[in-house]
Amino acid sequence: TEALTFLGIESSCDDTAAAVVRAWPDRAEVLASVVAGQVALHAPYGGVVPEIAARAHAEKLDTCVEAALAEAGLALADLDGIAVTAGPGLIGGVMSGVMCARGLAAGSGVPLVGVNHLAGHALTPRLTDALAFPYLILLVSGGHCQFLIARGPESFQRLGGTIDDAPGEAFDKTAKLLGLAQPGGPSVEAEALAGNPKAFPFPRPLLDRPGCDMSFSGLKTALLRARDAEVAAHGGLYRQTRADLCAAFQQAVADVLAEKTRRALKAYLAEAPEVPALAVAGGVAANRQIRSSLEAVCAEAGVRFTAPPLKLCTDNAAMIAFAGIERFRAGTATAADLVARPRWPL
Ligand code: KG4
Ligand code: ZN
Repeated sequence: TEALTFLGIESSCDDTAAAVVRAWPDRAEVLASVVAGQVALHAPYGGVVPEIAARAHAEKLDTCVEAALAEAGLALADLDGIAVTAGPGLIGGVMSGVMCARGLAAGSGVPLVGVNHLAGHALTPRLTDALAFPYLILLVSGGHCQFLIARGPESFQRLGGTIDDAPGEAFDKTAKLLGLAQPGGPSVEAEALAGNPKAFPFPRPLLDRPGCDMSFSGLKTALLRARDAEVAAHGGLYRQTRADLCAAFQQAVADVLAEKTRRALKAYLAEAPEVPALAVAGGVAANRQIRSSLEAVCAEAGVRFTAPPLKLCTDNAAMIAFAGIERFRAGTATAADLVARPRWPL
């Protein structure tokens, strides 16, 4: 039956992205996806600088959109809609994206749909694996960490999440403390391969408390103390000690995520979904140890496990185009969604 083709635009953090997605009621295809990162721009500052991000988005949006349309072999007039991230995120970047999308829509007469960035992440398993509602999703990235039951394109129930840092942020800080390269996730993971996860007894925060809330800032403090103690005792960090610190840290994060996933699954399965499924999305889902421990938890519970390909897990515009199509089909998009906002809970 009828396919819808949308352009998606994303600029809420430090990636400028444009994509074209075509979706049928039962499947979808990414026709083009362009992501221009800003890692090099922010690297000297040790974090994303909002003003620099906003300027870079404003400069790169047009070329990203042109590149995505060219890759898809389409013109603006061929589109059924344009979807743009309207929040949550760094307001300057979000505004750049919304202004760009408004201009394109006004010039072409194509309908415009505002999309929640988190809904984009949370709906990605439907883009890649056509998961049926309701499914459980764990979003784990540098900025997010939460369990959601996805019931519909606009309907998400939050079961719990981090009360402080996101795991990706903790990986990044760990890398910084140990003198490893950013982004920290991949470098800590690589270093951990040579380490002993039992070498340091790091805490498993909040496991003693019921529910699905998590905390990762205590883990970071424990790591800092352990590093300082090692430096004080030996005048520096041995290569092996650094690997052990990484392995113990990564094991602690994996253990917390696995146990909280067990609990989230329990709440989700109580609703007797027809085809129970857990999807994990976000940059941290790239971590092989975390991924395999989540897979084991799902196997144990008889639940299907899916993880979208990494390039659709990290920030991208294909998820925004697809979420726009889902909203458009549901007929729930409103003009108020097109107001750029820094906060926008699901
Ligand atoms: O989803 P993402 O690209 O951006 C947002 O935060 O929204 O996630 C980036 C985060 C970074 O903190 C990065 O260190 C982390 O994901 N990450 C990883 C791995 N690859 C990326 N964390 C652990 N292990 C990895 N292999
Ligand atoms: Zn994101």
